[in-house]
Amino acid sequence: MNVVRTRDELAAARRTLPGRVAVVMTMGALHEGHAALMRAARERADSVVVTVFVNPLQFGPGEDLDRYPRTFDADVAMCEREGVDLVFAPDVDVVYPSGEPSVRVAAGPLGDRLEGAHRPGHFDGVLTVVAKLLHLTQPDVAVFGEKDGQQLALIKAMVRDLDFGVEIVGVPTVREPDGLALSSRNAYLSADERRTALALSRALQTGDESAARAILDAEPGLDVDYLALVDDETWQEADEHTTTGRMLVAARVGKTRLIDNVQVHLGTRNVG
Ligand code: PAJ
Repeated sequence: MNVVRTRDELAAARRTLPGRVAVVMTMGALHEGHAALMRAARERADSVVVTVFVNPLQFGPGEDLDRYPRTFDADVAMCEREGVDLVFAPDVDVVYPSGEPSVRVAAGPLGDRLEGAHRPGHFDGVLTVVAKLLHLTQPDVAVFGEKDGQQLALIKAMVRDLDFGVEIVGVPTVREPDGLALSSRNAYLSADERRTALALSRALQTGDESAARAILDAEPGLDVDYLALVDDETWQEADEHTTTGRMLVAARVGKTRLIDNVQVHLGTRNVG
């Protein structure tokens, strides 16, 4: 496995990769959710590239950029175990050689709703780095997790709307046995906070908005940013025509902000 840090090293290594190439983009602090993405990538391609880059552009002021967990040696070991061919781990000035880019990808209206309403500019920052990493790694397919459902929807929209010509694949959320969605940010949680955080997946698993709300409201240590039910195709608020929805939750536990979502089958129903 090759680990490279500069654009020149990446370009040279990329030229030697045989066949169909898949990329898995990450911010490091890798866990079994990331490993599932690497396996999905391996199933769909001859060569697998993993990028490890904590993208400052997608963090707001007061967010956790400075304390985001960094476990580079363990990350490289996981990539090795998963049979990854190439790891691209650039420094910030490799990705942004002229400083913060003045031209960015605009996520559009969906970028301002739900997560975007609580993290202004976040999705412009995500799409900008995803666009750059797609250009730099030149994959045939790129694999992302459903865990970040709105991010996945926006990446699919960007690739479609701006003709990137790359296939985007979504991978189901990997959970702990007790339901907690794996996240690099789970490392921030104390044992008590982790117990509190379980309310997120428990709420979503009800598949019902008011039942979910009741579970979240009953958890004193939980500060809910939003609970929403959207149409899984359009990401508009679910209505009586919605057959497949997605229930989304974001909440803060202590200083840690967590998100989760599940698909919900609604069938035909009446919305009050
Ligand atoms: P990061 O949070 O490191 O996640 C990298 C990829 O792993 C994303 O596609 C995310 O959805 C997926 N992932 C995280 N937890 C998962 C889980 N429990 N099950 C399945 N997949 C999971 O998302 C980002 O980084 C960044 O925004 C990035 C796309 C790399 C751009 O900077």
